[in-house]
Amino acid sequence: MPSRSARVRAVAAGLALVATLAGCPDRSARPVADPAGPSVGPGAGTAAASFAPGAAGVGDPYFPSYGNGGYDVANYRLAVRYDPDSKRLSGTATITATATAALSRFNLDLVGLTVESATVDGAPATTARDGAELTVTPAAGLARGARFTARIRYSGIPRPVHSPQLGDNGFLSTADGAIALGEPESASTWFPVNDHPQDKATYDIEVTVPADLVALSNGVPGGTVAAGAGWTTWRWSERSPMASYLCTLVIGRYRIERSEHGGKPMVLAVPSNLPSNGPAARSLAATGTIVDYLTSQFGPYPFDSYGGIVVRDKRIRYALETQSRPVYGEVFFDRGVNEGVIAHELAHQWFGDSVSLSRWSDMWLNEGFATYAEWLWAEHTGERRVQESFDTQYARTLWSKPALDPGRADLFGMGVYQRGALVVHALRMTVGDEKFFAILRAWTTERRDGNGTTADFQALAERISGRQLDRFFADWLTGTAAPPIPG
Ligand code: TRP
Ligand code: ZN
Repeated sequence: MPSRSARVRAVAAGLALVATLAGCPDRSARPVADPAGPSVGPGAGTAAASFAPGAAGVGDPYFPSYGNGGYDVANYRLAVRYDPDSKRLSGTATITATATAALSRFNLDLVGLTVESATVDGAPATTARDGAELTVTPAAGLARGARFTARIRYSGIPRPVHSPQLGDNGFLSTADGAIALGEPESASTWFPVNDHPQDKATYDIEVTVPADLVALSNGVPGGTVAAGAGWTTWRWSERSPMASYLCTLVIGRYRIERSEHGGKPMVLAVPSNLPSNGPAARSLAATGTIVDYLTSQFGPYPFDSYGGIVVRDKRIRYALETQSRPVYGEVFFDRGVNEGVIAHELAHQWFGDSVSLSRWSDMWLNEGFATYAEWLWAEHTGERRVQESFDTQYARTLWSKPALDPGRADLFGMGVYQRGALVVHALRMTVGDEKFFAILRAWTTERRDGNGTTADFQALAERISGRQLDRFFADWLTGTAAPPIPG
């Protein structure tokens, strides 16, 4: 009989199983290089610098077209309106960024939808579309280091991106509204974005929906205002830099419970047609307690708000660590209270959200720690010792599947989730509890609101433990045979 944490694994593994039926996701098959090559931009006559197009991807080996080069976004101000009857979304995205190269033009990621107009620093800009790439050419080139504001007005019927490996991600219209979430991408299905965790930004989100619905998103609630007859605008702001795949939008009929936790706002939401004392609501209600426990293990909670949203839609068979407010598919609670999944998604607030990946092949840094948090929580509640979770998992691990660089098709596979957690505990057994928790706290403190790679993590573990760990990480992350158990 599967345990509660096995239930989380089963859902993750189910996703991986779908993933093995693989072909490439279309987007990653497209070339990164600008077909036109570097060119001299409109502003180039005024300066010695030559303005060139920004790259159409950040160059992530798994998803070369994700994100874009040549600029760094500081803030997204999104104002969207969604009409569930027509399924139409219209929006204005105001993007404040800094050019990191002299740009004649730059790209954003946007899937479907129609761009109605664009300005850069208030002057009309021209736009072009090619698949999921939106190219914006400002009236004048942007000097390297220049701060600029791009404003894009757009509308249309948003659709998810489908990938045989990664499922349907992005904006889904539902029976009572819509749900936008997905990893490794989703944001580009509802707003123009630099869609890669390398470019984190703060968000101010305004959502206008029919007055009988709610609109939930990330961060601190900014209240609601009437927006003309029968419509309401909901405001949210995420003040800590956030990777774009962690941005969510949930519209529909929900019971919202607002409270404070440790002086910060907490927003919990459950579909109105689920009982307020059922397993989903009861699991979600453990959020504060679990956050406090994880804080005792990982260090201070990194964000300004707390929360969680349960969603009810057959297509959503997963949970996602959307920043400050994870989203949980109802499926996780259909066998009763499940605190393991809450511990998993909350652990990601430190591992993945506050400290984000620089490239998707380092996924074990997210999922290994989140799975390990399930083991920690199970021990804390008296359900199972961490050592027992480790021993059981060690015995059933297929060592042919690496935790690091698993390949696109296994991005959400057992190697990443389960073997990833083995790596974490093996490190603890190798360096001892005191050094181990010092490493975790240093990682979450020094890289808070930033990014990190496997090499960065190893360097930190070596610095704090005073040991050379090349062999350790090679064996545990990628070795093809069972490594000797430390100790
Ligand atoms: N990162 C999620 C978790 O482990 C799982 C996940 C993988 C996911 N792919 C997804 C969630 C797509 C939502 C959409 O918690
Ligand atoms: Zn996870």
